[in-house]
Amino acid sequence: MQETSVGLIGFGSIGRAIIDSWSRAPIRNHRIQAVLVRSHQVEDAKDALGKGVVVTTDIFEFLCVRPCLVIEAAGHTAVTQHAADVLKAGAKFVILSAGALANDPFREDILALAARSGGQIVIPVGAIAGIDGLLALRRLGLSHVRYTSTKPPVSWRGTVAEQQFDLDSLTKPTTIFRGNAAEAAHFFPKNANLAATVAVAGLGFRDTEVELVADPSAPGNSGRIEASGAGSRLEVTVAGEQSASNPKTSSITGLSVLSYLENETNCLSLR
Ligand SMILES: NC(=O)c1ccc[n+]([C@@H]2O[C@H](COP(=O)([O-])OP(=O)(O)OC[C@H]3O[C@@H](n4cnc5c(N)ncnc54)[C@H](O)[C@@H]3O)[C@@H](O)[C@H]2O)c1
Repeated sequence: MQETSVGLIGFGSIGRAIIDSWSRAPIRNHRIQAVLVRSHQVEDAKDALGKGVVVTTDIFEFLCVRPCLVIEAAGHTAVTQHAADVLKAGAKFVILSAGALANDPFREDILALAARSGGQIVIPVGAIAGIDGLLALRRLGLSHVRYTSTKPPVSWRGTVAEQQFDLDSLTKPTTIFRGNAAEAAHFFPKNANLAATVAVAGLGFRDTEVELVADPSAPGNSGRIEASGAGSRLEVTVAGEQSASNPKTSSITGLSVLSYLENETNCLSLR
């Protein structure tokens, strides 16, 4: 069987977790051939990846290895900057920063581009479960979808929540945002990507309710989907430890990408 050539954008918490797990247990018939990093990360990334992997800060050098599949683990800006080039190259673009898709014109443009170029856009389920059930309920007729993300106060540092709340002084679970998934993606680009994934799978960005909670007693990050429609209900909660290098991110996220590559499931395919 022919090997699938993989490119990775981002050498932060998730990017490193992917490389680390891959080096211990490689994904059959897949090979990481290029990693796009920031200039200050080049040497570290070369050390972590060894010879034979292109480590670069240049998207065109990155795409020269002709990846069949590109994993984005870098942020909204990386998605908007590189989606067109990745899709024009005919690659599958696996997007973790799903909140970037809340921008309607951008989403429509890259979907049209993917259709023309033979590329594809895929969102791995990330640190949540239940997307399969949500997709099934959508066929039946969803009337209500709500996503709640609860994280310790430290996870909300560096966000707009700091303008309204003294995060270090919270003594009980506190709702720091309530709105729809489009607003959540706009105001919390580094924290609300799962809300975007739920929106894409369910009722869309405008009609998906999102609540973000800072809980000083939370042992880690948790995400909860509540959905209903046509006499059916879905309730799923996933609670996990935070990544040691980025408390906004759950450690399970990078592994969900590997599970997607291994099984070709655990993802949403956008068309
Ligand atoms: N879908 C999910 O389940 C889920 C869960 C957690 C995090 N995320 C998202 O995944 C993304 C990565 O998360 P993380 O925890 O690794 O973040 P991180 O901040 O630890 O790492 C991101 C890295 O990407 C680099 N980067 C940014 N733009 C780049 C570019 N254009 N080219 C190359 N490198 C670039 C940054 O310098 C940083 O090193 C974030 O957008 C995060 O919000 C998604």
